[in-house]
Amino acid sequence: TLHLGVLKQRTFAMLKPDVVEKMGHIMKVIIQNGFKITKLKMVQMKRDHALEFYAEHKGKPFLPFLVEYMTSGPVIAMELLADNGVAKWRELLGPTDSEQARKDAPGSIRALFGKDKSLNAAHGSDSCASAERELNIFFPMSPIAQYESPRSTATF
Ligand code: PPS
Repeated sequence: TLHLGVLKQRTFAMLKPDVVEKMGHIMKVIIQNGFKITKLKMVQMKRDHALEFYAEHKGKPFLPFLVEYMTSGPVIAMELLADNGVAKWRELLGPTDSEQARKDAPGSIRALFGKDKSLNAAHGSDSCASAERELNIFFPMSPIAQYESPRSTATF
């Protein structure tokens, strides 16, 4: 019989500098919640990279702090794959403010590993379009990778 697999969706996740030392714990939570980690790298962003990444927040009062914070040390950038992956990762992240997350979503990543509304452990794309944009910033496709199988992560 013909079996149509569930369509997996990829999203972009990033562990912020102050929780990189807890990457083992956090990745365990991610995997236990049904995600595949299909790409991963540790990088330290320059100011220009952070400004490009957060272009949508241009003019917001928190942007200077956010850029300073995100460039203060290495981050862990990941492609995650799951059913309904974009929304599912935002749900596992919990609310932006970690203190609120501890009240409203006690098991969430931000509740468990974040501190407050500025130091909130991790980032997640807010839409499929954002995910594609953000993945392309951190994981640009080389010609050889395209040849090998750019969507090999889409089926398991
Ligand atoms: S908005 O305005 O609704 O789009 O903002 P929000 O989605 O809540 O947050 C967008 C990103 O900005 C970070 N943020 C902050 N950082 C530092 N200080 C303050 N006060 C602050 N408020 C929001 C927030 O963590 C989001 O970062 P990412 O990396 O996208 O998770």
